[in-house]
Amino acid sequence: MARTPYIAGNWKMHLTKRKASALARDVASQQGQASHRKVAVFPTFVHLDHVRRNLKGSNVILGAQNCFGKKEGAFTGEISPYMLRDMGVKVVLIGHSERRHVFGESEAMLFDKVKIALRAKLDVMLCVGETLEEREGGQTFKVLARQLKALKVVKPTQIDRVSVAYEPVWAIGTGKTATPTMAQEAHAECRRQIAGILGEQAAATIPILYGGSVKAANAADLLAQTDVDGALVGGASLSIDDFGPILDAAQH
Ligand code: PGA
Repeated sequence: MARTPYIAGNWKMHLTKRKASALARDVASQQGQASHRKVAVFPTFVHLDHVRRNLKGSNVILGAQNCFGKKEGAFTGEISPYMLRDMGVKVVLIGHSERRHVFGESEAMLFDKVKIALRAKLDVMLCVGETLEEREGGQTFKVLARQLKALKVVKPTQIDRVSVAYEPVWAIGTGKTATPTMAQEAHAECRRQIAGILGEQAAATIPILYGGSVKAANAADLLAQTDVDGALVGGASLSIDDFGPILDAAQH
């Protein structure tokens, strides 16, 4: 089953308004209206509108790094997926490991976020991945199964708006990448779990991206794996010199 390669840049809490706008223009001009790959960028909330304007004329997808699990209300400091949608955002990251481990987001919160974001007509990129301790303790597949349960809230009509990013926590921002074989093994397991939750057809179509120290030098080998459909890139998405070659690696 051919799945369109999907490359996403997670800009985290980086860049100034000016630099984010310039980077958006660079990504937009490299991508243009290309249809052989999907490209998304995830700037910080306060840069969304600037980035949106600078992506004009391209099909680069505007993403947000997080959202709250309620439509509206007395939730000081939080952002509703409906507000994101209203701002022109198309996709939201949910359950990034920094949200889980630095901000202590619980599985229950993530269920709500997936549900409300899809209801708000946003696409959802659910991030999953084990810590080093969990990997060394032989818990990787168990952790993936637990985290992927958030997909239980996805309705059949919403399946084409869902993607998954497998990001082993020990590989994020550390320079340690999973080997292509390790990535393939975890991705195949994610797909098996997705089949159990949403059915075989969903498992065959939902893109599973790899994240964790992806760079130009390792992108092609990772993307060559059968079940690796793309990359969620942090550090190497912050300049077009680094990100451009990763986009080039997603040609087929
Ligand atoms: P990294 O981050 O590429 O800097 O490891 C990936 C991510 O956290 O999405």
